Amino acid sequence: MRSYVLRAVGGLPPDDGRVTVRMLLPGAPAPGEIDGLAVILVDATADGVSAGFLAPLTPHEAAQWWTRSLGQSQPRTWIAEHSGEIVGCVRLVPAAYPADPHRADVVKLLVRTDHRGHGHGRDLMATLEEHAAATGRWLLTLTTETGRPAETIYERWGWRRYGHLLSATLDEVVGVLTG
Ligand SMILES: CC(C)(COP(=O)(O)OP(=O)(O)OC[C@H]1O[C@@H](n2cnc3c(N)ncnc32)[C@H](O)[C@@H]1OP(=O)(O)O)[C@@H](O)C(=O)NCCC(=O)NCCS
Repeated sequence: MRSYVLRAVGGLPPDDGRVTVRMLLPGAPAPGEIDGLAVILVDATADGVSAGFLAPLTPHEAAQWWTRSLGQSQPRTWIAEHSGEIVGCVRLVPAAYPADPHRADVVKLLVRTDHRGHGHGRDLMATLEEHAAATGRWLLTLTTETGRPAETIYERWGWRRYGHLLSATLDEVVGVLTG
Protein backbone atom coordinates (compact mmCIF):
# COMPACT_ATOMS: atom_id res chain seq x y z
CA MET A 1 0.00 0.00 0.00
CA ARG A 2 1.19 3.49 -0.71
CA SER A 3 0.14 6.77 0.82
CA TYR A 4 -0.05 9.70 -1.54
CA VAL A 5 0.78 13.06 -0.02
CA LEU A 6 0.90 16.43 -1.67
CA ARG A 7 1.78 20.02 -1.03
CA ALA A 8 1.20 22.98 -3.34
CA VAL A 9 4.03 25.45 -3.39
CA GLY A 10 4.26 28.87 -4.99
CA GLY A 11 0.54 29.33 -5.63
CA LEU A 12 -1.61 28.06 -8.44
CA PRO A 13 -0.46 28.32 -12.04
CA PRO A 14 -2.34 30.90 -14.12
CA ASP A 15 -5.71 29.71 -15.37
CA ASP A 16 -5.45 30.01 -19.13
CA GLY A 17 -9.11 30.69 -19.73
CA ARG A 18 -9.45 33.40 -17.14
CA VAL A 19 -9.94 37.04 -17.97
CA THR A 20 -8.85 39.58 -15.42
CA VAL A 21 -9.23 43.33 -15.31
CA ARG A 22 -6.58 45.34 -13.52
CA MET A 23 -5.47 48.93 -13.22
CA LEU A 24 -2.04 49.86 -14.55
CA LEU A 25 0.22 51.77 -12.22
CA PRO A 26 0.56 55.32 -13.57
CA GLY A 27 3.96 56.02 -15.04
CA ALA A 28 5.26 52.48 -14.65
CA PRO A 29 4.18 50.26 -17.53
CA ALA A 30 5.60 46.77 -17.29
CA PRO A 31 7.42 45.23 -20.25
CA GLY A 32 4.88 44.10 -22.82
CA GLU A 33 2.11 46.40 -21.64
CA ILE A 34 2.88 49.16 -24.11
CA ASP A 35 3.14 46.67 -26.97
CA GLY A 36 -0.12 44.96 -25.99
CA LEU A 37 -1.94 48.27 -25.79
CA ALA A 38 -0.44 49.36 -29.11
CA VAL A 39 -1.83 46.23 -30.76
CA ILE A 40 -5.30 47.12 -29.51
CA LEU A 41 -5.08 50.69 -30.81
CA VAL A 42 -3.78 49.62 -34.23
CA ASP A 43 -6.46 46.92 -34.44
CA ALA A 44 -9.26 49.35 -33.53
CA THR A 45 -8.04 52.00 -35.98
CA ALA A 46 -7.78 49.46 -38.78
CA ASP A 47 -11.34 48.38 -37.89
CA GLY A 48 -12.54 51.91 -38.56
CA VAL A 49 -13.03 52.84 -34.91
CA SER A 50 -12.72 56.54 -34.23
CA ALA A 51 -10.24 56.29 -31.38
CA GLY A 52 -8.36 59.51 -32.09
CA PHE A 53 -6.21 58.29 -34.96
CA LEU A 54 -6.46 58.12 -38.71
CA ALA A 55 -5.63 54.84 -40.46
CA PRO A 56 -3.08 53.57 -41.16
CA LEU A 57 -1.64 53.71 -37.65
CA THR A 58 1.67 51.94 -37.16
CA PRO A 59 2.50 49.91 -34.03
CA HIS A 60 5.37 52.32 -33.39
CA GLU A 61 3.08 55.39 -33.46
CA ALA A 62 0.59 53.62 -31.23
CA ALA A 63 3.33 52.61 -28.78
CA GLN A 64 4.62 56.18 -28.66
CA TRP A 65 1.12 57.45 -27.84
CA TRP A 66 0.68 54.92 -25.03
CA THR A 67 4.12 55.65 -23.61
CA ARG A 68 3.24 59.35 -23.37
CA SER A 69 -0.25 58.69 -22.06
CA LEU A 70 0.73 56.20 -19.40
CA GLY A 71 3.32 58.71 -18.21
CA GLN A 72 0.56 61.14 -17.19
CA SER A 73 -0.17 61.05 -13.50
CA GLN A 74 -3.92 61.75 -13.38
CA PRO A 75 -5.61 59.40 -15.86
CA ARG A 76 -6.19 55.80 -14.83
CA THR A 77 -5.95 52.91 -17.26
CA TRP A 78 -7.42 49.43 -16.89
CA ILE A 79 -6.59 46.44 -19.04
CA ALA A 80 -8.40 43.16 -19.58
CA GLU A 81 -6.06 40.20 -19.88
CA HIS A 82 -6.75 36.78 -21.28
CA SER A 83 -4.09 34.09 -20.89
CA GLY A 84 -1.53 36.81 -20.19
CA GLU A 85 -2.42 38.81 -23.32
CA ILE A 86 -3.95 42.28 -23.22
CA VAL A 87 -7.29 42.05 -25.00
CA GLY A 88 -8.99 45.28 -23.95
CA CYS A 89 -8.53 48.60 -22.23
CA VAL A 90 -10.30 51.68 -20.95
CA ARG A 91 -9.14 54.98 -19.45
CA LEU A 92 -10.62 57.43 -16.98
CA VAL A 93 -9.41 61.01 -17.38
CA PRO A 94 -10.42 63.19 -14.41
CA ALA A 95 -11.42 66.78 -15.19
CA ALA A 96 -8.51 69.02 -14.23
CA TYR A 97 -10.26 72.21 -13.04
CA PRO A 98 -10.88 72.76 -9.33
CA ALA A 99 -14.56 73.43 -10.08
CA ASP A 100 -14.98 69.98 -11.64
CA PRO A 101 -13.89 67.47 -9.01
CA HIS A 102 -16.99 65.38 -9.73
CA ARG A 103 -16.34 64.91 -13.49
CA ALA A 104 -14.22 62.65 -15.63
CA ASP A 105 -14.04 61.52 -19.26
CA VAL A 106 -14.05 57.91 -20.31
CA VAL A 107 -11.78 57.24 -23.30
CA LYS A 108 -10.27 54.31 -25.20
CA LEU A 109 -12.81 51.66 -24.32
CA LEU A 110 -11.43 49.16 -26.82
CA VAL A 111 -11.64 45.40 -27.03
CA ARG A 112 -9.53 43.59 -29.61
CA THR A 113 -11.66 42.50 -32.57
CA ASP A 114 -10.85 38.81 -31.95
CA HIS A 115 -12.04 39.03 -28.34
CA ARG A 116 -15.24 41.04 -28.66
CA GLY A 117 -18.56 39.79 -27.41
CA HIS A 118 -17.18 37.95 -24.37
CA GLY A 119 -18.02 40.48 -21.71
CA HIS A 120 -14.63 42.23 -21.56
CA GLY A 121 -16.06 45.63 -22.49
CA ARG A 122 -18.72 45.31 -19.80
CA ASP A 123 -16.17 44.19 -17.19
CA LEU A 124 -13.79 47.03 -18.05
CA MET A 125 -16.52 49.65 -17.83
CA ALA A 126 -17.93 48.21 -14.59
CA THR A 127 -14.47 48.34 -13.00
CA LEU A 128 -13.92 51.90 -14.18
CA GLU A 129 -17.34 53.05 -12.94
CA GLU A 130 -16.74 51.48 -9.53
CA HIS A 131 -13.45 53.34 -9.23
CA ALA A 132 -14.97 56.60 -10.46
CA ALA A 133 -17.79 56.44 -7.92
CA ALA A 134 -15.40 55.54 -5.12
CA THR A 135 -13.19 58.53 -5.93
CA GLY A 136 -16.03 61.06 -6.19
CA ARG A 137 -16.11 61.27 -10.00
CA TRP A 138 -19.83 60.68 -10.29
CA LEU A 139 -20.44 62.48 -13.60
CA LEU A 140 -18.82 60.63 -16.49
CA THR A 141 -18.81 61.79 -20.10
CA LEU A 142 -17.63 60.22 -23.32
CA THR A 143 -18.02 60.59 -27.05
CA THR A 144 -18.83 57.73 -29.34
CA GLU A 145 -19.33 57.45 -33.05
CA THR A 146 -22.96 57.80 -34.08
CA GLY A 147 -24.35 54.63 -35.61
CA ARG A 148 -21.71 52.20 -34.36
CA PRO A 149 -22.65 49.33 -32.00
CA ALA A 150 -21.11 51.10 -29.01
CA GLU A 151 -23.78 53.79 -29.20
CA THR A 152 -26.57 51.35 -28.37
CA ILE A 153 -24.42 49.45 -25.91
CA TYR A 154 -23.89 52.63 -23.88
CA GLU A 155 -27.61 53.31 -23.86
CA ARG A 156 -28.28 49.83 -22.49
CA TRP A 157 -25.65 50.39 -19.82
CA GLY A 158 -27.54 53.47 -18.63
CA TRP A 159 -25.68 56.27 -20.42
CA ARG A 160 -27.77 59.15 -21.72
CA ARG A 161 -27.11 61.07 -24.95
CA TYR A 162 -26.63 64.80 -24.36
CA GLY A 163 -25.63 66.08 -27.79
CA HIS A 164 -24.20 65.56 -31.24
CA LEU A 165 -21.04 66.99 -32.74
CA LEU A 166 -20.63 67.23 -36.50
CA SER A 167 -17.10 67.07 -37.94
CA ALA A 168 -15.83 65.58 -34.70
CA THR A 169 -12.78 64.15 -36.44
CA LEU A 170 -10.80 65.20 -39.51
CA ASP A 171 -12.06 62.28 -41.58
CA GLU A 172 -15.68 63.31 -41.14
CA VAL A 173 -15.40 67.07 -41.59
CA VAL A 174 -18.55 68.41 -43.22
CA GLY A 175 -17.73 72.13 -43.29
CA VAL A 176 -15.18 74.73 -42.25
CA LEU A 177 -15.42 78.13 -40.59
CA THR A 178 -14.52 80.79 -43.09
CA GLY A 179 -14.51 84.04 -41.19
C1 LIG B 1 -17.81 48.45 -27.71
C2 LIG B 1 -16.87 47.37 -27.19
C3 LIG B 1 -15.84 48.00 -26.25
C4 LIG B 1 -17.68 46.32 -26.42
O1 LIG B 1 -16.79 45.37 -25.89
P1 LIG B 1 -17.14 43.82 -25.94
O2 LIG B 1 -16.20 43.10 -25.06
O3 LIG B 1 -17.21 43.39 -27.36
O4 LIG B 1 -18.61 43.83 -25.36
P2 LIG B 1 -19.23 42.85 -24.28
O5 LIG B 1 -19.01 41.44 -24.72
O6 LIG B 1 -18.79 43.24 -22.92
O7 LIG B 1 -20.74 43.18 -24.47
C5 LIG B 1 -21.26 44.37 -23.94
C6 LIG B 1 -22.69 44.51 -24.43
O8 LIG B 1 -22.70 44.82 -25.80
C7 LIG B 1 -23.44 43.87 -26.53
N1 LIG B 1 -22.74 43.75 -27.80
C8 LIG B 1 -21.51 43.25 -27.99
N2 LIG B 1 -21.18 43.36 -29.28
C9 LIG B 1 -22.25 43.95 -29.90
C10 LIG B 1 -22.52 44.34 -31.25
N3 LIG B 1 -21.65 44.15 -32.25
N4 LIG B 1 -23.71 44.93 -31.50
C11 LIG B 1 -24.61 45.16 -30.53
N5 LIG B 1 -24.40 44.82 -29.23
C12 LIG B 1 -23.23 44.21 -28.94
C13 LIG B 1 -23.45 42.63 -25.67
O9 LIG B 1 -24.60 41.86 -25.90
C14 LIG B 1 -23.49 43.24 -24.28
O10 LIG B 1 -24.79 43.65 -23.93
P3 LIG B 1 -25.23 43.73 -22.39
O11 LIG B 1 -24.14 44.40 -21.59
O12 LIG B 1 -26.50 44.51 -22.42
O13 LIG B 1 -25.40 42.30 -21.99
C15 LIG B 1 -16.14 46.63 -28.35
O14 LIG B 1 -17.10 46.11 -29.22
C16 LIG B 1 -15.20 47.53 -29.12
O15 LIG B 1 -14.02 47.60 -28.79
N6 LIG B 1 -15.71 48.20 -30.15
C17 LIG B 1 -14.91 49.08 -30.96
C18 LIG B 1 -14.44 50.25 -30.16
C19 LIG B 1 -15.56 51.12 -29.70
O16 LIG B 1 -16.52 51.39 -30.40
N7 LIG B 1 -15.38 51.58 -28.45
C20 LIG B 1 -16.24 52.54 -27.86
C21 LIG B 1 -15.74 53.88 -28.28
S1 LIG B 1 -16.43 55.13 -27.32
